[in-house]
Amino acid sequence: MPKITYIEHNETAHEIEVLNGLSVMEGAVQNNIPGIDADCGGSCACATCHVYVDEKWFNKLSKKEVAEEDMLDMAFEPNKFSRLSCQLTVADELNGLVVKMPSKQG
Ligand code: FES
Repeated sequence: MPKITYIEHNETAHEIEVLNGLSVMEGAVQNNIPGIDADCGGSCACATCHVYVDEKWFNKLSKKEVAEEDMLDMAFEPNKFSRLSCQLTVADELNGLVVKMPSKQG
């Protein structure tokens, strides 16, 4: 199972094994990782699953859909490595992925 590291805004890191096919958001929610609330349940409509993807991983991810771009515009302090974790599907290629939560999501 791919391992994903979720880093809270206070730098607390959680390395979790997540099943292929789940979203990065679902992996966090199922393991009670603080900082990913996922209020809309993964339908790209809330931005409470916003994460900053580690720079070296960013270009390995699937491209953003327009809906994700639009929602990220409304997210808290987005930057060029921002993604919505509900739109990222876990797969073997993402073994070792590192994402960090924004300070507002604590
Ligand atoms: S869970 Fe709502 S946008 Fe990702």
